[in-house]
Amino acid sequence: MVAGIGPGNPRFLTMEVKDAIENFEKVVAFGRVSNSLGHIRKDFIRIEKIAHIDKLLEEYEDILILASGDPCFYGIVEYLKRENIKIEKILPGLSSFQYMMAKLGITWQGANFLSLHGRKGKLESVKDYKLSIILTDKDNTPSRISKSLYEMGVKGRIYVGFNLSYEDERIIKAEIGKKIDDITPLAVVVIENEMD
Ligand SMILES: C[S@@+](CC[C@H](N)C(=O)[O-])C[C@H]1O[C@@H](n2cnc3c(N)ncnc32)[C@H](O)[C@@H]1O
Repeated sequence: MVAGIGPGNPRFLTMEVKDAIENFEKVVAFGRVSNSLGHIRKDFIRIEKIAHIDKLLEEYEDILILASGDPCFYGIVEYLKRENIKIEKILPGLSSFQYMMAKLGITWQGANFLSLHGRKGKLESVKDYKLSIILTDKDNTPSRISKSLYEMGVKGRIYVGFNLSYEDERIIKAEIGKKIDDITPLAVVVIENEMD
């Protein structure tokens, strides 16, 4: 079974996921995910790389795999499907982008979604949408995204949500192209494109 834990702060766990974490015999989680849930249980099987899951699935029959945000949004479900691993059930979670959009008070239907998290993504599609929502990583940082969009001639606003839902959360707003401090690699970027 796969479950989404929300953006990180346990306040955003669903009751269903909390119950599953308490009751499963084996619960697998990445470092950041397991760190924030230490008050629920301590015996997480911690993994560093997504590929480690394959071995665990060979070893144990019934495991709960915890994913950040929602597992169906640029997450673990994509990987498991690619590997032809059968997923018995998926418990949804609040995605980091949903949390961010609620904080900004911006509705997101019809938005363009992109993930540059560990991928070579293309920013070209941002040109065609009034609203784009982008996941980042340590290489594809908000400041790089802002610079690239400026060079592509995209005008408008960029919002960045760093460490969303944690105590040190920061949300900033800037004009596209203006300097942004990449405080942490954990960030969601939202682009409001001033297209004609
Ligand atoms: C592998 S993706 C998983 C996304 C996840 N499935 C979701 O729905 O949020 C990881 C990326 O999500 C974003 N992210 C996840 N949690 C975040 C948080 N608490 N604050 C800011 N960004 C976050 C970052 O862009 C991070 O690099």
